[in-house]
Amino acid sequence: MTAATTPHRPPPAPPGPRGPLAWQTARYWVAPRSTLRRWRRRHGEVVAARVAPMGRALFLFDPDDIRTLVRAGQDEFLAGAANARLGGPSSEHSLLVVDGPQHAEHRALLTPVFHGRAVRGQEERIAAIAAREVERWPDDRVFPVLGSCRTVALEVILRVVLGFDEDDHAIGPAMTTLTASESVWEMAVGGLPGLRRAGTRRREAALTRAQELLSDRISAHRGDPRLHERHDALALLLCARDRDGAPLPDRAVSDQLLTLLVAGYETSAAALAWTLERLARDPEVHRRATRAADGDDRAWLTALVRESLRVRTVVPDLSRMAVRDTQLAGFRVPAGTIVTPCLDSVHESPAVFPDPQRMCPERFRERGSTTDWFAFGGGIRRCLGAAFAETELRVSLQEILRRRTVTAAGRRGERRVRRHITAEPARAARIRAHRRGPV
Ligand code: HEM
Repeated sequence: MTAATTPHRPPPAPPGPRGPLAWQTARYWVAPRSTLRRWRRRHGEVVAARVAPMGRALFLFDPDDIRTLVRAGQDEFLAGAANARLGGPSSEHSLLVVDGPQHAEHRALLTPVFHGRAVRGQEERIAAIAAREVERWPDDRVFPVLGSCRTVALEVILRVVLGFDEDDHAIGPAMTTLTASESVWEMAVGGLPGLRRAGTRRREAALTRAQELLSDRISAHRGDPRLHERHDALALLLCARDRDGAPLPDRAVSDQLLTLLVAGYETSAAALAWTLERLARDPEVHRRATRAADGDDRAWLTALVRESLRVRTVVPDLSRMAVRDTQLAGFRVPAGTIVTPCLDSVHESPAVFPDPQRMCPERFRERGSTTDWFAFGGGIRRCLGAAFAETELRVSLQEILRRRTVTAAGRRGERRVRRHITAEPARAARIRAHRRGPV
């Protein structure tokens, strides 16, 4: 038979668990990490399952497949469409849920907020926020530090990134209500056919309230005579003009502000809390980190931040949606499939990172060690705030370590719990903090 007459053989369907949607969904959401581990052991590096709210989903565990996916063109896989399908407390014009030219346009508008020089100029303000918060910590008493990390992250986002001043005090509580308005259960249950979207109404009420409040504050800031001198997101958006030279409407501005908040608040808070939870259990790395903080060794502290995001990956998976029938890793991928790279599985694979449970910041000081590290995603959708988040975490940690030594509250490390897109310490990172001498 010649090549011309060889019948075309479509790629095979990927392997995966069998059973009704409800059963697979329940198994996945009750214990996502162990379920994925089991599916991977049984079926391999690409696993197809049916899980609400994703529907038909493909889980990827191999770093090469993940790279192929995040670098694929938008004629094949889309992130915005996937994020929109999965829901969450974001608004309809948000950068997170758009694709194509609209995504490129929105992203270009916000990018200057996160330019290297702009970020470096904000270090002092971040340090002041972290220093003020750590002074409130109880001395030598066990407490859950995640709440305090949330306070730092919220203040940093509101004041430094978004550009709201201290007078805009109602914004903080409205934003925490909004980001707290959906649990992972509501997300899963909301995707099951026939079941009422338990969290939807609550979330919509919180979203409307946040938008009204933002709209009110946006009007107030439009009149700021120093708007053009400011480098925060609010000022950039208020100075932006559309193709006809008209300013962006309030709703477009508030949507983008909410996007930054949703994407950057809980992620940064969880990352800071996990780093402290890990340091509290590893006196050797803690001592080295304290030396780095005292000696202003920024490169080492940045390596610590990256290693912490590896051992406790705050966003454990990404989402892309196949826009047409295509293939990946030699398997058939029908249009509409949600493809989910499992980032934490890669970060904890001994084949990729030897002795993966050991916290070893030196890994990130060696050239090339970040190749298979996806803590901020990848491709054109890579986290817009990545450089900012690394700076925020490094500066906050330095302020904390210069003032406190932390130890663990119990013998066992904390479990991870999913809260919308982030994996947080199950007991909110309970630590004991000992005051060091004056800074
Ligand atoms: C440790 C903290 C953070 C982590 C772990 C993190 C992680 C991520 C990840 C995994 C994505 C998805 C990337 C993809 O789909 O390939 C993402 C997207 C995004 N992040 Fe972050 N993020 C963090 C902090 C921040 C901060 C502080 C901001 C801004 C204030 C921010 C803004 C964004 C935005 C706007 C997107 C959407 C980008 C797009 O769709 O083009 N993130 N982040």
